[in-house]
Amino acid sequence: MKWYADLSVGNNTVDEQHKKLFEVVENLIDACNQKKGNEEVGKTLKFLLDYTRNHFRDEEALMMKYGYPKIVDHKKEHDAFAKEVAEKVDAFNKGGAGVAVVLQVMNQANSWLINHIMKMDKEVGKHILSKA
Ligand code: FE2
Ligand code: FE2
Repeated sequence: MKWYADLSVGNNTVDEQHKKLFEVVENLIDACNQKKGNEEVGKTLKFLLDYTRNHFRDEEALMMKYGYPKIVDHKKEHDAFAKEVAEKVDAFNKGGAGVAVVLQVMNQANSWLINHIMKMDKEVGKHILSKA
C-alpha cells in the first residue's frame, strides 16, 4: 500500500501528494483492521476525501497551466472517483456502511490510484516535462 519509485510522474508536487494519498489509504486500512472506533474511521475517511479533492484540483491546475490536451477526459476520471468516495463517506456517516465496506473501498481506492497514476498521471507528467 505504499508509493514506490515506479509510480513517479516526474513532478515533485504531484509525487508528494500521491505519496500522501497512499499513506492515508494505508492509515484507513489500519484503523479498520485495528477496530478503531467509527469516529476515528469517519475522520480519516473525511480527510481522504478532502485530500483527494485538493490533489485533483492541483493536478488539474497544472494541466491547465501547461495546456495539457486531454484534460477533459482526465478530469472525468477524477470526478467519478471523488463522487464514489464521497458516496461511501456519506453512507458510512449515516451508519449504512460498516468498517468492512470501508476496507473494501480502500482496496479499490488503492488499485484505482495505481492504475490512474500509471495510465493518466504519468502522461501529464511527461507533457509537463516536455514543456519545461
Ligand atoms: Fe490524475
Ligand atoms: Fe494524481
